[in-house]
Amino acid sequence: ADSDPLQDFCVGDLKASPSINGFPCKSAVSASDFFYSGLGGPLDTSNPNGVTVAPANVLTFPALNTLGLSMNNVELAPGGVNPPHSHPRASEVGTVIQGSVFVGFLTTNSTLFSKVVNAGEAFVIPRGLVHFQWNVGQVKARMITAFNSQLPGAVVLPNTLFGSNPEIPNAVLTRAFRTDDTTVQNLKSKFSG
Ligand code: GLV
Ligand code: MN
Repeated sequence: ADSDPLQDFCVGDLKASPSINGFPCKSAVSASDFFYSGLGGPLDTSNPNGVTVAPANVLTFPALNTLGLSMNNVELAPGGVNPPHSHPRASEVGTVIQGSVFVGFLTTNSTLFSKVVNAGEAFVIPRGLVHFQWNVGQVKARMITAFNSQLPGAVVLPNTLFGSNPEIPNAVLTRAFRTDDTTVQNLKSKFSG
């Protein structure tokens, strides 16, 4: 969903200030700029959600600047969940390399489309829609996802709503979730910072 490039490539100069749509082009480029070794894992998934994402986006692989593409290596511990999130600037297509992953996305009418995706199978998440992945297998699951943006962005709903800085007033969250202060405070305590 990024705008089209007007030159063969424009390897991002990350030391320069980002301009309106990405980074200025680096002046001297070499072959090594166009290759990236950071997608192989294995990643440490021992964290509360049991998921770790290693991105190849313009910030880690600056040759993607202006090309409207990026990828992630996503690894999920057994039972691990990549929490509900959305990408404001891209659709997502992914393939499971290892394991079995319950993948779901929600339409703007709150219809859930979901399936257990096994190794060798693929899924697509239309731009901006909320989605999640859950490792339903007995072993670590691994997926490679790809995006039509050099920096798709991720709005991770639990962190956005309960871990923002500054905080969203409890009055907003108790009313929005039709619950009480204790529940909201408990959720906030898990996502602070
Ligand atoms: C998975 O949903 C990802 O954003 O890589
Ligand atoms: Mn995603």
